[in-house]
Amino acid sequence: MTEQDTAQGATAADAGATKVTLVTGASRGIGLAVAQALVAKGERVVITGRDSDTLEQAVKQLGEESALGVAGKSHDEAHRAEVVERALERFGRIDGLVNNVGTNPAFGSMLDLDLSVARKILDIIWCPRWAGCSWCTGRGWPSTAGPSSTCRR
Ligand SMILES: NC(=O)c1ccc[n+]([C@@H]2O[C@H](COP(=O)([O-])OP(=O)(O)OC[C@H]3O[C@@H](n4cnc5c(N)ncnc54)[C@H](OP(=O)(O)O)[C@@H]3O)[C@@H](O)[C@H]2O)c1
Repeated sequence: MTEQDTAQGATAADAGATKVTLVTGASRGIGLAVAQALVAKGERVVITGRDSDTLEQAVKQLGEESALGVAGKSHDEAHRAEVVERALERFGRIDGLVNNVGTNPAFGSMLDLDLSVARKILDIIWCPRWAGCSWCTGRGWPSTAGPSSTCRR
């Protein structure tokens, strides 16, 4: 463990412990690939997505002993709180967040963007990312906000 880890809230008990990472939007695509890479390293993941059937398939693929799926919408605060609660309940710790969820409902010039679409982009992508950054910063972890933003201790 480095001095930086200690400064970021890790304790001696963390040394050698199996890390647990929350990966949002991980029932397919880049999020699922990130989850697969973490599980391949022997770590555990809590993955999210809206469709519970797809999420369940992803959990089976990852291995039920290493992965937990919590279905819900990224812009729903109650869902985000449930993800944290169920992660702690199941695995007892959280070491990181990969805030991967995203959508691209618009193509072309921003000047042509309908306001309802702009609001959807803010709600689905940016609000959860700001909330995630704030959550990580509050735990003393480094934090970034960009496509597939990541913070871990
Ligand atoms: N693919 C690229 O070339 C590319 C390039 C640059 C950046 N990115 C960024 O990388 C991230 C992942 O991209 P991807 O191509 O892997 O996406 P994807 O294949 O469309 O997968 C998106 C994942 O997010 C979930 N999801 C979508 N909307 C959600 C919502 N509102 N609430 C909760 N979960 C939701 C989806 O499951 P459900 O549909 O069941 O909810 C799915 O698991 C995105 O942020 C994207 O902007 C992608």
